Amino acid sequence: MTRPRINGVAPPDPLQTNQTYAQSHRQRFNMAGYAAPKLPTVRVGIIGLGNRGPGHLRTLIQIEGVEIKALCDKNPDKVTTARKHLEHTDHAPALYSEGEDEWKKLCERDDIDLVFVTTPYYLHAPMAVYAMRQGKHVASEVPAAGTMEECWQLVQTAEETRQHLMMLENYSYMPFHLLTINMARQGFFGEVVHGDGAYNTSKMGNNFGRDFYSDMWWLRQYAGRRGNVYPTHGLGPLCQVMDINRGDRLDFLVSMESNDFAMGKKAAELAGDDPHYAEFAGLEYRGNINTTVIRTLRGRTIMLQHDGTTPSPHNLIHGIHGTEGAALFDPSPPRLSKGDHKWVDADEFAALEKQYTPEIQRRMGALARGSGHGGSDMLMVWHLIDCLRNGLPLDQDVYDAASWSAIVPLSQWSVLNRSSSVDIPDFTAGAWQTNPHNMDIQLARGGGSTEIAAVAADSQDKLARQWQRDHGGKS
Ligand SMILES: NC(=O)c1ccc[n+]([C@@H]2O[C@H](COP(=O)([O-])OP(=O)(O)OC[C@H]3O[C@@H](n4cnc5c(N)ncnc54)[C@H](O)[C@@H]3O)[C@@H](O)[C@H]2O)c1
Repeated sequence: MTRPRINGVAPPDPLQTNQTYAQSHRQRFNMAGYAAPKLPTVRVGIIGLGNRGPGHLRTLIQIEGVEIKALCDKNPDKVTTARKHLEHTDHAPALYSEGEDEWKKLCERDDIDLVFVTTPYYLHAPMAVYAMRQGKHVASEVPAAGTMEECWQLVQTAEETRQHLMMLENYSYMPFHLLTINMARQGFFGEVVHGDGAYNTSKMGNNFGRDFYSDMWWLRQYAGRRGNVYPTHGLGPLCQVMDINRGDRLDFLVSMESNDFAMGKKAAELAGDDPHYAEFAGLEYRGNINTTVIRTLRGRTIMLQHDGTTPSPHNLIHGIHGTEGAALFDPSPPRLSKGDHKWVDADEFAALEKQYTPEIQRRMGALARGSGHGGSDMLMVWHLIDCLRNGLPLDQDVYDAASWSAIVPLSQWSVLNRSSSVDIPDFTAGAWQTNPHNMDIQLARGGGSTEIAAVAADSQDKLARQWQRDHGGKS
């Protein structure tokens, strides 16, 4: 088969990569359920201080037992601005901003335990691999990898170094998503047969904004790729509901994409008035709506959608269809069904919510409420830190990061090959059959100390006030 070219460049063939790894890959060490030695204080370095990095920084400094040791961005202004968030705190990080490769120096420090990687996503895997090789755990933004090769490298490096690689897939920690994960575990849905997930939200303003993303990197990705470039917000929570990589695994997918009906037009319009956009006119943009369908080895299905372009309302779907019940998050209001062909009414919804809300949300939900993405940012990062401090397995392991991120290159391959089906590799090398749950939503394995809550509550107030002063109410 001749390989299609995108903007004159042939994308790497993920099938060849998978064939090569399939011949030689052996699991060196099972990272599922892995607990690293306890860290009384988690010493953190952050690489990438654009939109997301400072968000994590503000969250981290509200959590007891965290020390911010180093901050890095290739843009010195971003480092200076991020540093300001620490002015009224005891954190005194080293600052790195002298160029594209300074992040390596941050990774090489011997006083850092955990590196947050919050750069553009095509930099995540190289940075994560380097950090793990320097003996650091890594919290990587989504997706954790952009190519098949990188997915494998993450798995092999985590197994070799026994360092955690947790992808920061936050949407599983939204209150309704947590509720459905618990309901699935308690059998409310019976057998979960199918899930619908999406990240359908227009990024037209952001992507074409002159200064929204550094170097307009997202727009360049939209021009240089096909397929679902942002799969994990829809897929991650469904994989937690369906116990993917622990009892079942993603088997194969087909992906179909519309043409682009909007981005090329917008680029041409903007270029007419502003030479800044000249390089973006005339490019072939990825299709506006991508729909990927995944089948699991146990014969269940997932529909995953990405629409970053049309002006439709924001929609994550998060629909769950089981033999005995169903759930649907978007379009709001969220709904639950007890398997009698109708949604329950508001009173029954409230009763079910009360019954099935998991401990992590009960204990920490109120404190997290003010943080980003429906409180999910705080819950995720708080639990990550809590697990590291208590020597517990993390909520998402490297196999989750690799298999959820693999949708990026594999959906592209399918789109470029008339939606042919493509296998999703088994990064666990068979261990998925016996791997344990690793999202401890009931806080069953300790942790969840109230001291952390008290610190968080106090500093959250202070920080909220400071944030208001600094930003005049903008979030
Ligand atoms: N989980 C979520 O809800 C969520 C939300 C937003 C973004 N994200 C993810 O977070 C990541 C960052 O997104 P963003 O919106 O903050 O992008 P951004 O462009 O605002 O920030 C990226 C930063 O990385 C810096 N950078 C680039 N190359 C670097 C290098 N070589 N060394 C050091 N710094 C470098 C840039 O200067 C920039 O400040 C993306 O991968 C995105 O997918 C996730």
